[in-house]
Amino acid sequence: MSNSNEERKSCLRGVGVTKVFGSGSKKTVAVDHVDFDFKEGEIVTIVGESGSGKTTLSKMLLGLIAVTEGEVFYQGQPRDIKGARKKKEYWKNIQAIFQDPFASYNMFHKIDDVLLDCLNMRGCKDLPMEQKVQMMTEACSFVNLKFEELTNKYPFELSGGQQQRLMIARIFLLKPKILLADEPTSMIDACSRSTILDMLTKLRDEINMTVIFITHDIGLAYKISDKVYIMEHGKFVESGDAEEVIIHPKADYTKRLISDVPKIYEEWDLSTV
Ligand SMILES: Nc1ncnc2c1ncn2[C@@H]1O[C@H](COP(=O)(O)OP(=O)(O)O)[C@@H](O)[C@H]1O
Ligand SMILES: [Mg+2]
Repeated sequence: MSNSNEERKSCLRGVGVTKVFGSGSKKTVAVDHVDFDFKEGEIVTIVGESGSGKTTLSKMLLGLIAVTEGEVFYQGQPRDIKGARKKKEYWKNIQAIFQDPFASYNMFHKIDDVLLDCLNMRGCKDLPMEQKVQMMTEACSFVNLKFEELTNKYPFELSGGQQQRLMIARIFLLKPKILLADEPTSMIDACSRSTILDMLTKLRDEINMTVIFITHDIGLAYKISDKVYIMEHGKFVESGDAEEVIIHPKADYTKRLISDVPKIYEEWDLSTV
């Protein structure tokens, strides 16, 4: 958790952000007038049960689907991503990793090409190959992978945890301002899970990235985040400093999420706080 008390700049802010799917009797309000302010260099966790609207909100934050109502501000300015060119520019600043690393890769691309693409996207196309290899090696070692052992391999030859780490190596090379991680640990084993969480924290610490972590597991939220937003039926029912919200929950929904994870008290010894 960050100790910094200084006022951080707003990175991504939303006012009344809403997403409605369908109409008439088939209408679903997936995200219902949510307000948020994610600061630079902050790890923010959005916690909610399945179907609460987390993925829909992430897609709006990423600009993959339109906002039905409300507005998103990026670095204090109304976000303008109309048209392919502006979207592409925005995507230099925000990147995502998803639940299923397997689905995130083009399986016909070797790992070296996956990483080289990132450098090219960052405008490093014309650098000498030697320097590119050095950058890719550094990115791999950031996630405890060995670049030499990965060359000429395909992503599907890696384990789930290694694939997710490779996703993080990509983020390390792309250096976006914001990383959105939607349930990145739900398909991997507990050991890899804690490694992935450590790496998200390290990205924040080393690159001052804003990390938006999405999970149904309030225990994970407590472990890594500065701020939490609790989401129920498309609304934020509670938000604030992670410790404050999780140790002194106000909303009944938050209390229920916590009671569903009894181990939270043992694992992080909240009981003695
Ligand atoms: N493309 C879509 N069309 C219609 N309804 C959708 C669509 N995507 C999501 N929903 C609905 O919106 C609600 C929130 O879904 P989602 O954002 O995926 O929740 P979560 O990620 O928290 O599990 C659910 O009721 C879901 O069925
Ligand atoms: Mg989801």
